Amino acid sequence: MTTGGDSGPLQRNPAADRPRCRLGVNIDHVATIRNARGGVHPDPVRAAHLCAVAGADGITAHLREDRRHIRDADMYRLKEEISLPLNFEMAATAEMVGICLDVAPHAVCLVPERRAERTTEGGLDVAGQREALAAFIDRLGSAGIRVSLFIDPDEAQVRAAQALGAPVIELHTGAYHEAVQATTPVRIQAEFDKIEAAADLGEALGLEIHAGHGLDFQNVQAIAGLPPIRELNIGHFLVGEAVFMGLDQAIREMRRLIDDARTGMLV
Ligand code: PXP
Repeated sequence: MTTGGDSGPLQRNPAADRPRCRLGVNIDHVATIRNARGGVHPDPVRAAHLCAVAGADGITAHLREDRRHIRDADMYRLKEEISLPLNFEMAATAEMVGICLDVAPHAVCLVPERRAERTTEGGLDVAGQREALAAFIDRLGSAGIRVSLFIDPDEAQVRAAQALGAPVIELHTGAYHEAVQATTPVRIQAEFDKIEAAADLGEALGLEIHAGHGLDFQNVQAIAGLPPIRELNIGHFLVGEAVFMGLDQAIREMRRLIDDARTGMLV
């Protein structure tokens, strides 16, 4: 053990021996700004090129049923023009599965969708819709697309995802984000504990663990420091922060925070 001078003993970070945590950048809200004027600027595909240069490991885009931000043509262009792996977020519907099979992305993340919601407000109820999901997972998986299920950090949902044969789960970190915003220590700890327990359980069941939603410079390190986490998908904060520091710098800073959370020593 290394000693840390006045700040006490430093401990080896348990995440340091694990693979690096990938950063997927969600570019939906570049399209939100574009669509506000109905034209072609700013182009989400151009943003995706920038993400690649800045060190993102993948591009995530959500083709919502109401097409409020990303459009079908964006998905095809992202697949054609960007060399990074494309993670296609979508609702588990026959229409979306058809488009996804046609685009043939590297990965798909199945999310719940309600038209009236402002964003993806909760995880998929995997336990409650096993049959419909099983068929979609099977079709997408057979086409060579890696399937992930976006779920709340909840034991029953993790077990249901594994039982359905999904290789990956993405844990919804929105409640943790809200707890940090509210600065209520008991709530922060409780939400963090749920994510940690779900990540540990998922890993023990043989799943690859991702996380996302509401991650920012303030809260990302706690999540990135969890050893089972292999990928974080982050969008709204990075696009918002791009207004102030530029997209390139925002991604580089996020990348640095994630890497430090995994390799840095812990006091
Ligand atoms: N992961 C999933 C499955 C999502 O639905 C979203 C939001 O579209 C994100 C990650 C990114 O969340 P945020 O935009 O809050 O960073």
